[in-house]
Amino acid sequence: MFVLRACLFAFATTGANSHYIWQDVSDDLESTSLTFSEHAGQPGMRAFLDGIKDKLSITQATADDTTEVAFSEKRDGAVNGEFFAPLPNVAPPYALEAACPYGIFTEAGPTALLKYYTSSPQITTPNDWFPVQDLLKNQFEVTLRDPYMSTGGKVVDEVGLKVGLGAGLFEDECPSGENSIDGMACIVAVVRFNGELHEPAVNVTTFDASGDTISIVECESVCIMKVPMSGSVFAAVQFKEMTPGTFEGTEYEYVDHWATTSTVIKRD
Ligand SMILES: *[C@@H]1O[C@H](CO)[C@@H](O)[C@H](O)[C@H]1NC(C)=O
Repeated sequence: MFVLRACLFAFATTGANSHYIWQDVSDDLESTSLTFSEHAGQPGMRAFLDGIKDKLSITQATADDTTEVAFSEKRDGAVNGEFFAPLPNVAPPYALEAACPYGIFTEAGPTALLKYYTSSPQITTPNDWFPVQDLLKNQFEVTLRDPYMSTGGKVVDEVGLKVGLGAGLFEDECPSGENSIDGMACIVAVVRFNGELHEPAVNVTTFDASGDTISIVECESVCIMKVPMSGSVFAAVQFKEMTPGTFEGTEYEYVDHWATTSTVIKRD
């Protein structure tokens, strides 16, 4: 019993190996799965799912309708598991996201209010980002937007943005205006908080479908990441909002926001 409890509360540490909730969508768009683990898209221990399943909600939103998506638990081998949900038959574009306001978390140090978010919005052209970003409602959010998907888009204002981009100062960043470099696709990572661009710097880390790290860029709201030319890509960000408060009678020192996203890169 003691061991299990220690295990259950070991997931939110501050190092590279922290648990996030990861969402992705099947190639045929018929289902979504959510994992809770240290490695992007990989199933984690089923015991950990018990700690979040009552607080998790999955939402699909189009311009016409917002639907709560019912999910169930699926086993992955002896100890691992994930959440799984058939998706309503809705044509993209649409917002698809999940939130888990976990609650008070103290085991890793100071008392924090821990919140998880994930998303896997489905878009068909870069211009879809204008309506879809307004349909995404998570408080903290990272999205990966490819201005050059399908028929070779031109500029970042096609992915829902009205801002300039950084000069590509980090090793893992693409220079502004390039659609690819060194055989890697250049895509835009956008970090938002309360529906607005998030100015404070956060590290955006991207991962491939095996959960391996592709790149890390310190990002003030918008940055350009290098990712493989095809396949699933995940991204994760963490933000400590240093605002104390009270949650269900317990005082906390800050709010710990953990967000991920996934997309499929398709360059033609
Ligand atoms: C991003 O990661 C680097 C390397 O670990 C670290 O030095 C830096 O402080 C991080 N930046 C932020 C904003 O957390």
